[in-house]
Amino acid sequence: QFRRTKKKRFLLSAYGGYNKASLIISFFFRTFGMALLTILRYPDTRLRKQAKPVEYVDDRVQVIINDLLETMYGAPGIGLAATQVNIHEQIVVIDISEENDSPLCLINAKITKKSGSVETEEGCLSVPEYFAKVDRAENVTVEYLDREGQSCVLEATGLLAVCIQHELDHLKGKIFVDYLSSLKQSRVRKKLEKAAKNK
Ligand code: NI
Repeated sequence: QFRRTKKKRFLLSAYGGYNKASLIISFFFRTFGMALLTILRYPDTRLRKQAKPVEYVDDRVQVIINDLLETMYGAPGIGLAATQVNIHEQIVVIDISEENDSPLCLINAKITKKSGSVETEEGCLSVPEYFAKVDRAENVTVEYLDREGQSCVLEATGLLAVCIQHELDHLKGKIFVDYLSSLKQSRVRKKLEKAAKNK
C-alpha cells in the first residue's frame, strides 16, 4: 500500500497531471523526446505553402522526423507530410505496414519515373472522415535522402506508390481533394468548416 502511494505521488509530482492516460503519454514523450503535433485541416491556407528542401539532415531534422512519426502513428494514419503540421520543409513519413513497424522517411524526394494508372480511395489526416477516388500513377521511382542523409532510390508500386504521390503533393501545397470536381470540393469544404465551427 505504502509503496503504491509513494510511487503515485512521484509520478504526479514529476508529470504534474492526474489523468492516467496523460501521465503515460507524457512519460513516453519525455523519455523518447517526441511530441504529438497539431495537424492542419483543410481548407487551412497554410496547407498551400511550398515546402523548402532540407539543407542538412541534422539533429533538428531528426526531431522533426520523430515528431512526424509519432503524430502519424497517433492519428492513426499511413502517411504524413511536414506541411500538414505547419513545417514547410520537404520531409514526409510513411508506414503502410499493418504492424506500424516499417517507417519510411523521405527527405527532398523527387519522383523521377511514373507509369501505369490506378484509381484508389484516398483519405487524408487533414481532411478527416472524407474519402474519394483519385487517379494516380501505379508505379513510381523516387529519389530521396533517408534520415541518415544517404541518397536512395526506391521503386514503389500499388498502395506505397499512391501514398508517396499523395504525401509529396502536400509538400507542393496540393491536397487530394484538388483532383475532385468543384462540386465535391465545395461540399467537403463546407462540411469541414461547419465541423470546425461546432468544435
Ligand atoms: Ni494527406
